[in-house]
Amino acid sequence: ADINLQEVHDFMIEIARKVGERITSATPSTGAAGSKKNSVDLVTETDQAVEKILSTSLHEKYPTFSFMGEETYKPGDKLTDAPTFILDPIDGTTNFVHRNPYVAISLGLAINKSPTVGIVYNPFTQTLYSAIKSHGAYLTHFLTPQPQPQKLKLPLHPPTPLTPLSTCLIAIEWGSDRSANDFAVKSRTFTKLAAADGGMVHGLRSLGSAALNMCAVAAGEMDVYWEAGCWAWDVCAGWVVLGEAGGRVVDANPGGWEVGVDGRRYLAVRGGEGQEGVIREFWGLVEGRFE
Ligand code: IPD
Repeated sequence: ADINLQEVHDFMIEIARKVGERITSATPSTGAAGSKKNSVDLVTETDQAVEKILSTSLHEKYPTFSFMGEETYKPGDKLTDAPTFILDPIDGTTNFVHRNPYVAISLGLAINKSPTVGIVYNPFTQTLYSAIKSHGAYLTHFLTPQPQPQKLKLPLHPPTPLTPLSTCLIAIEWGSDRSANDFAVKSRTFTKLAAADGGMVHGLRSLGSAALNMCAVAAGEMDVYWEAGCWAWDVCAGWVVLGEAGGRVVDANPGGWEVGVDGRRYLAVRGGEGQEGVIREFWGLVEGRFE
């Protein structure tokens, strides 16, 4: 049956807005939840509660759709071709725990494994990035001067052409995997990008939310985002926004022009002329390969 993507999109926004209050009013507590694979892979009771509320609403409204969520994922779960909601209830959990407001609900819908609807909502700033494949990307500020809040809805446009990588502002994350080969590849590449005899890029930023990083690239506030180790729920929603703003996602490892939403290694580049050149330049500075 045909899926009414606009209706799905509007419903996703409605429930994210509602549950957003739960996030902003919470006292972040890792309590019984704590950490997952190590002491920097945090999860709070709020992550779990928010995932439960959202998944319940989604199941009720769309009972035939599949669901994949950060907090209920089990090793071996695979993304299928079925319409699948892909959810990170709090992307930026570490920020949340530290009361840093760079946090988002990342809710995507993939169909045939392709990111198709995406909403990335920061409940602290009440900023929403949203997109439906082939229908453009939007930015909505729900908080505007008092007393009459007004809604801004702007199409996101890719700004100026992308010039050499050295002039780029790059989002790059350590992630929660702090050991072994992948950590070494990251460390060497960070250095290579920054060094005078390397890329000597304008700047590297680790803001702590993959979903917001994708949206920052979509909006042209960042030029490139590179990370290995994050998951489909971190990137699915932002991917739609980025794609609709003219951006592109390829593999974090050099040479991978095609990467799936569950590929776990991503190089995202904003829209604008020169995109392919920047991707090739970036790959040229990656020191090693992720496993
Ligand atoms: C994390 C954030 C972070 C990224 C990690 C993700 P979480 O998601 O997106 O920026 O570096 O790889 O796991 O754990 O806060 O939902």
